[in-house]
Amino acid sequence: MTIQIADKPVGPDLLDPKLHGHPEMIRQRADEAPPVFWSEKWRAWCVTGYPEAFAILKDSRFSLEYNMRKTEQTQDLSPEALELRRELYCGGLTHLNFDQGRSLLVMDPPEHTPYRRILQPFFLDREVAKFLPIIHGIVDRLINAWGTSDEIEFMNGLAYPLPVILFGDILGIPQELRHKFIDYDAFTNTRNTKSTLANVEDYRKAAAQGPAYSAKIDEVISAKRACPMHDIFSTLVTAQIDGKPIPDARVRAMVYLLNTGSVTTTTTLIGNCIYYFRHFGIWDRIRDNLDLLPQAIEESLRFDPPAPYVGREMAVDMELGGQMLKKGETVLIFFNAANRDVREFSDPSEFQIERSPNRHLSFGFGGSHFCLGAPFARQEALISVTEMMKRYPNLEVIGEPEHANAFGFSKLMLKLH
Ligand code: HEM
Repeated sequence: MTIQIADKPVGPDLLDPKLHGHPEMIRQRADEAPPVFWSEKWRAWCVTGYPEAFAILKDSRFSLEYNMRKTEQTQDLSPEALELRRELYCGGLTHLNFDQGRSLLVMDPPEHTPYRRILQPFFLDREVAKFLPIIHGIVDRLINAWGTSDEIEFMNGLAYPLPVILFGDILGIPQELRHKFIDYDAFTNTRNTKSTLANVEDYRKAAAQGPAYSAKIDEVISAKRACPMHDIFSTLVTAQIDGKPIPDARVRAMVYLLNTGSVTTTTTLIGNCIYYFRHFGIWDRIRDNLDLLPQAIEESLRFDPPAPYVGREMAVDMELGGQMLKKGETVLIFFNAANRDVREFSDPSEFQIERSPNRHLSFGFGGSHFCLGAPFARQEALISVTEMMKRYPNLEVIGEPEHANAFGFSKLMLKLH
């Protein structure tokens, strides 16, 4: 039943840690409220309907520039911890070390447009195709390292290291400078703690690592300036916008976005595919007809989106889904709920690998912020699942996977045969 507070309908807490790993429960809870409702706890509008979410993603009146959504997740935090959280998550390390550097994910057009234009060419299908042998090579090396083990923990064995290693290649980070720093979560030891809001000490430790992380990026900036090549990093340090070079603070913020935006999400997607294909008894069918795999990956993206929600802030007053949203208010768009809206998807709680059309929102949809890295993520999933199916045709999942936070499995044990 929908409760009305003042003039706003309120609904359930869709960020409740008890819901982590249960997208079907998120949809059930979302059905208790209208598709656009107010959360007093998060002090944000929550959007769970497909048409409403779709409309937002294409509409620049829903701003990213003022995006403070993560600082809204504050209920368990002391003022000091809140400050650390702000430093850590608001626009990357913006307030920590990056001297007002912001990535394109916290810019609105027209400021956003030239940055996107600079990066876009590196994410076209023909560019991504050049990386396919590299992805194959990384997957082979990681799997070969398991030797003759008949049981492995898959997340740390392949799903996580693959995008971490590939990130260094995509950006063009020299091998000698890659050690450890290329993965921010590993650098700050936040892989299993992010977004749980649980431990102030974790935030403090992570924030304390900021200058060191920043200094590592600066080493690459110097190396790339001295010897630019055809890669993303060189382009960021040599490009000009309005006749001026991109400030180092912004380069750092872009690198931080590309790193944090590409690793956790792709890790989640790869782990989810292995788990769901086994869980829903479709592993053998896909293995025997690998042409089904791309659609099956899309269904995994719809069913359990690796980025479960994104945020916006209202740039103007406007009506959405029967509610009046006011300038400055935060909006959280729940892909995990919208991807199961019966107005768009028939039988949304069924995992249907031949679902067509499957216009899930998991990479955003259209709009100026549509995920740049989607072709990489799809290829990483395609190549790693194909290789697992070829090498371990009868693979089994052992027990239930574990979740450390809202972003995919932290542990997925497999029996290899
Ligand atoms: C399964 C994997 C991935 C998922 C689910 C995902 C999801 C998303 C989503 C939902 C957005 C849009 C955010 C918004 O509209 O607020 C986004 C943006 C972005 N993603 Fe991804 N992503 C994935 C992988 C990657 C990879 C591999 C890269 C880079 C190598 C990447 C780079 C980016 C960038 C640069 C943006 C910002 C685009 C802009 O603001 O113009 N992503 N991603």
